[in-house]
Amino acid sequence: MSGPEEGIGGDAPQAIRKLTPGKLVIASHNEGKVREIRELLKPFGIEPVSAKELDLPEPVENGTTFYANAELKAMQAADLSGLPALADDSGLCVEALGNAPGVYTADWAERQPVEGPPGRDWYMAMGKVEGKLAEKGPDVSRSAHFVCMLALAWPDGHVEWFEGSVEGQLVWPPRGNVGFGYDPMFVPLGESETFGEMDPAKKHEISHRADAFRKLVDAVF
Ligand code: IMP
Repeated sequence: MSGPEEGIGGDAPQAIRKLTPGKLVIASHNEGKVREIRELLKPFGIEPVSAKELDLPEPVENGTTFYANAELKAMQAADLSGLPALADDSGLCVEALGNAPGVYTADWAERQPVEGPPGRDWYMAMGKVEGKLAEKGPDVSRSAHFVCMLALAWPDGHVEWFEGSVEGQLVWPPRGNVGFGYDPMFVPLGESETFGEMDPAKKHEISHRADAFRKLVDAVF
């Protein structure tokens, strides 16, 4: 897939760069994402190493789009490690909330305790989504989708992007304790279990991350 600015100014589309077997940095400090990306990379002779294992700093995600945040995470990790790096920027888009929290999905979980370090509380974040839906009345649409933007960056500054999504419905109360983030309140279309209840192997077949991965695999391997 081409990046957002490619082609502007009449440039000819560039060929997608292939990824050769070897080390690949997973440019994320989110353990749930790292676990899923490792699983998805298993069949491809890639040696995944996480940003945390390399002691890379966690960048400030100050982009206003999934593209921008995925790119800044992947480029920083590729630059600092000298290795190709894969970043995922993802989020939950709730239709009745104008696609919020969207790019701010992780921020909705930020908790600033009176004492101790700040942390993320996913049950609080899910409660916030549910509270905002409840304000809209009992007939509000509960349709939502997860988006995943993958950016694959090389140390010379080349980047490729791949986007995936999965449609679903939000349920309350949350159900299940596998998965991470907002999984317990999201039932993908055509399923009865939430992502929080589902066998991870099944989530890997249908999730937004799996969708983006299929595109990446077709293009770069
Ligand atoms: P970021 O991409 O690091 O900004 O964070 C996106 C946030 O979206 C994650 O921290 C999760 O809370 C949420 N998210 C992304 N993908 C999933 C998923 O597969 N299940 C549940 N929550 C997700």
